Amino acid sequence: MKEETTTLHSSLRTIEWKDNKLVMIDQTKLPNELVFVEFTDYNDVANAIRTLVVRGAPAIGVSGAFGLALAALQSKSMTKEELIEDLEKARKILFETRPTAVNLKWGLEKIMKVANEGDNVNEIKELVVQTAKKMAEDDVKINMAMGKHGSELFNDNDTIMTHCNAGALATVAYGTALGVIRATKESGKKIKVIATETRPVQQGSRLTAFELKHDGIDVTLIPDTAVGYTMAQGLVNKVIVGADRILRTGHVYNKIGTYQVATMAKQHGIPFYVAAPLSTFDLQSNPEDVIIEQRNGSEVTGIGDKKTAPDGINVINPAFDMTPPELISGIITEKGIAKAPFGESIKKLFEAN
Ligand code: MRU
Repeated sequence: MKEETTTLHSSLRTIEWKDNKLVMIDQTKLPNELVFVEFTDYNDVANAIRTLVVRGAPAIGVSGAFGLALAALQSKSMTKEELIEDLEKARKILFETRPTAVNLKWGLEKIMKVANEGDNVNEIKELVVQTAKKMAEDDVKINMAMGKHGSELFNDNDTIMTHCNAGALATVAYGTALGVIRATKESGKKIKVIATETRPVQQGSRLTAFELKHDGIDVTLIPDTAVGYTMAQGLVNKVIVGADRILRTGHVYNKIGTYQVATMAKQHGIPFYVAAPLSTFDLQSNPEDVIIEQRNGSEVTGIGDKKTAPDGINVINPAFDMTPPELISGIITEKGIAKAPFGESIKKLFEAN
């Protein structure tokens, strides 16, 4: 793993495949430093997903796919069977990094499927690399399509609240929820954004505020505790967030605190939208099947390296929560917008796919 610092001139690209290496922005260093990290070993990619060097559901889906591309290139196997065995071992390691975002499983399964279709070692290596590259390009196109659909829901002079980071930094580029915000601005409407800080890891202040400011989008930061205040003051017209997993019933799993924001939006009659690609839908699971990742308590007992709680304190630190469909005004996808009753309209989006 080699590190280099680069100055960024244009819109952010989080993940790139260059000369058979995976290059990603190290998001743990933002907003203070923009550092690109190079990967040649899939074990390092797994570690990067685990430690939030790369995070956000679509971004970890594509990183998982590139992780398998590296595993294929790393493999010394001489036969198809040995290569599939190596890939299967890498798939397991990559899959076990984070349990909630379904995009990771989706990305890994897609690569394993094409690998199994290849006839020999060289063909499989080529197929795996080309498929991962295509997944990265498709991610950007999908986000732009989602942005186009979603922008119709937003009006001139809207102030839009968002939680966590569902932006370029959570995808390959452009973003899901922030992609809709970008597309709304690109359509000529004047909009403002309110970003929540998103404790404990601060994806809102470190990443959303950084990337919107970077792209010249009007953004104001609030502490998570000011969500109710800003809504009660009439400072918010709409809310949009991303998702890590959406069930066929319209139950949405997203960054911890999303449920609170959605509940508060309902209380104040503010439309609450979710933007996510079809790869974020899990049509098989029921709410009781979904594992909510529980992260280290140190994320709560301190901010960065500074300790902000007494030693030995008990901590609950879930990374995600579930927002029920009755709090959601619409789910924006690349194929259109699902509305209540979600069961039917999600089914239609997949049938049209
Ligand atoms: O823990 P994180 O930073 O990976 O959580 C990210 C989120 O919850 C995002 O809102 C979600 O992945 C959607 S990203 C387009």
